[in-house]
Amino acid sequence: MDIFRPFEENRNQASPNRNISPLTTALDKEQKLNVGGCKLSSLAQEYGTPLYVLDELTIRTSCREYIDSLRKYYPGKSLPLYASKANSSLLLSSLVASEGMGIDVVSEGELITALKGGVPSDLIVFHGNNKSSDELLLAYDNDVKIVLDNQFDIEQLKEIVKLGNKKAKLILRFTPGIECHTHEYIKTGHIDSKFGFDPDELSDVFVQLKDIEWGELIGLHAHIGSQIFEVEPHKDLAEVMAKTLQKGREIGHPLDILNVGGGLGIRYVTSDDPPTIAQWVEVVSKAVLNACNKRSLELPCLMCEPGRSIVGTAGLTLYKIGSRKEIPGVKTYLAIDGGMSDNPRPITYQSSYTAFLVDRPLAKASEIVTIAGKHCESGDVLLHDFSLPNCSSGDVLAVFSTGAYNSSMSSNYNRIPKPAAIIVSNGNSELIQLRELPEDLLRNDILPDRFIKKVS
Ligand code: LLP
Repeated sequence: MDIFRPFEENRNQASPNRNISPLTTALDKEQKLNVGGCKLSSLAQEYGTPLYVLDELTIRTSCREYIDSLRKYYPGKSLPLYASKANSSLLLSSLVASEGMGIDVVSEGELITALKGGVPSDLIVFHGNNKSSDELLLAYDNDVKIVLDNQFDIEQLKEIVKLGNKKAKLILRFTPGIECHTHEYIKTGHIDSKFGFDPDELSDVFVQLKDIEWGELIGLHAHIGSQIFEVEPHKDLAEVMAKTLQKGREIGHPLDILNVGGGLGIRYVTSDDPPTIAQWVEVVSKAVLNACNKRSLELPCLMCEPGRSIVGTAGLTLYKIGSRKEIPGVKTYLAIDGGMSDNPRPITYQSSYTAFLVDRPLAKASEIVTIAGKHCESGDVLLHDFSLPNCSSGDVLAVFSTGAYNSSMSSNYNRIPKPAAIIVSNGNSELIQLRELPEDLLRNDILPDRFIKKVS
């Protein structure tokens, strides 16, 4: 089978989350892979490998599909927020803001990245199940909307606001009690989740937060999980949220925001079959609309928090193939110059990926190989039993759909420096994150004096 064909076919389906590769993926005259008008092998040569590559057009298209679909299907106000945990950088903050999206952040680091990237503070929502008082203070000072996840948030924030002269803008997160099909680790909507208030305590919390001087409860939030292909759970979520909105308003809270979280899946391998962004938004919007109309509720501003479906398929990682180990009759390992430190998803969630040789994407597969990383861990394998044309050390391999939860979850395991990241568009490439140097890894090490004496 021509495994390159799915890219061509899927591209016609428009929604970027249904393409394994960026929208601009193309073959040039020499039948070599190009993205954003740039030859991938030239990028590997210019910037080195491993290299994270992001395609600007794909990201912008995803942002627009969320914005336009919300406008089309939801008659009230709406705002999609990019969940920056998927991939946080100054560039991405600036890019999504330029498309009119807001941003969801979960730490001081993500918050300052959003602010410095130029996201207006009233378009930032601050999450977290264990925010520090410094983080809360930063969010409060910057007029960022704060998601109350638990009583600890309430206790800390109360003290912080005492020092200021304005009320904090609050969104209440609760666990909706909805099950969906995804990996156990990335489900969040079920009752025993660590995130958000339990639905049974909501009435008490609404009463507790009534007429407080330190804040104003303006919205509700719930998120059911990530990499979800079904839309049904979001219909159930809308019902639960509208019911809770009604309860909160009856108690007297000016609830004007309904934030339904993120979770739309993307295609990593051809068998993945997520709905399009537009289909997801249509279901969510109509469900919220119906649930509100049924209860004669004034429509709240509908927010959602897509992460993976904004950047996932816009990204790919370039690696150089190095060593080969053949175990006759068992398997053949091809090792690449990265692995679990730049993409921890296969070892963490047993995730599958699709890869191509950048200079011979159409070459017939001739062997089944295991693409292993270079880390000292047997489980450091990016692709199991993967069909590839015969290749040798020095060949460049592109692993697709790595734009989300790769860079943001990367580590320095084995003291391996993190890759550089670039953005490509219209034949240009620009560096957005410097490659770490081995020396950078020593930056925070301290050798106490008495050890220095021993060494010298
Ligand atoms: N909002 C909240 C509150 C979330 O917890 C998440 C993801 C999102 C939005 C964005 O969800 P998305 O649209 O990206 O599915 N590291 C895992 C994914 C963890 C997702 C955590 N929360 C992975 O690599 O699959």
